[in-house]
Amino acid sequence: MLMANERVNQVSGLKSITNPHPVRVVSVTSGKGGVGKTNVSANLAISLVANGNKVLLMDADLGLANVDVLLGLQPTCNLSHVVKGECSLEEVIIKDTSGLRIIPAASGIQDMAELSHIEHAGLIRAFSELSFNPDILLIDTAAGISDSVVTFSKAAHEVLVVVCDEPASITDAYAVIKLLNREHGLHRFRVLANMVHSAQEGIDLYKKLMKVTDRFLDVTLEYLGSIPFDEYLKKSVQKQRAVVNAYPRSKSAIAFAKIAQKAGQWPIPDSANGQIEFFVERLLNYKNNRSAIIYE
Ligand SMILES: Nc1ncnc2c1ncn2[C@@H]1O[C@H](COP(=O)(O)OP(=O)(O)O)[C@@H](O)[C@H]1O
Ligand SMILES: [Mg+2]
Repeated sequence: MLMANERVNQVSGLKSITNPHPVRVVSVTSGKGGVGKTNVSANLAISLVANGNKVLLMDADLGLANVDVLLGLQPTCNLSHVVKGECSLEEVIIKDTSGLRIIPAASGIQDMAELSHIEHAGLIRAFSELSFNPDILLIDTAAGISDSVVTFSKAAHEVLVVVCDEPASITDAYAVIKLLNREHGLHRFRVLANMVHSAQEGIDLYKKLMKVTDRFLDVTLEYLGSIPFDEYLKKSVQKQRAVVNAYPRSKSAIAFAKIAQKAGQWPIPDSANGQIEFFVERLLNYKNNRSAIIYE
């Protein structure tokens, strides 16, 4: 018989102890590449740690400028090794000097949906047995509107859309919101304006995006704020350090701290919805459900 605080995972049949602080899963997306998604993910994650949150940052982007490159880390194994049973999830997770934990990018996670049931169960077990219970799981997704962006955003509780003042950024942010809304039923998105030259520029960007979504989609966009264009952020990228660590008094670092304060107050999911292994299960089930629909 199950105790009150135990749950059974539907796929793996594993029993897990309910985490008293469910994890908030935030997918960071943008449509267009180069708008600062990875910098936003890493700096927001470190700022959330500084505010006392336990944070896990998952790199779901296989592009060149990965989180590990940005933070000057050298991962030896990744999630694909966990799937193959070659190492444990604890071995994959890198802890940086600020206390942030990182799951480095892996080719395996792009094709998570192709994994066998045994591999699924192994991955869910790896997450459910994690001794570290994060409060927040941030996911730096790939650029574009690939299946992997959809998969992670659907499984997340919050979708944060990063935009900057370039026509292609607005168009591509709209495209990703439209896809997630029309095809996948997501209705609420948070917007963060990056590389702005004034606070007003950020608000104007948000309004520009809202003008099109209000007209064509059934979505709510919530404005999270803006990060200024900052030469110190560029310098920190060269140094392979997060700007909040390398230049904590720079204007972008101060803005990240403010954004982290706000993000730290986002609603906490209910405990069933907030278990990390259930997030992984949602992630893995997405494509199976989809192919079931296609072949019906
Ligand atoms: N707030 C900012 N101020 C100045 N430059 C920025 C800022 N954010 C990003 N950049 C620049 O944009 C580049 C791409 O950022 P990155 O986070 O790798 O984007 P993405 O992950 O969206 O491709 C960085 O290397 C940096 O030079
Ligand atoms: Mg990136």
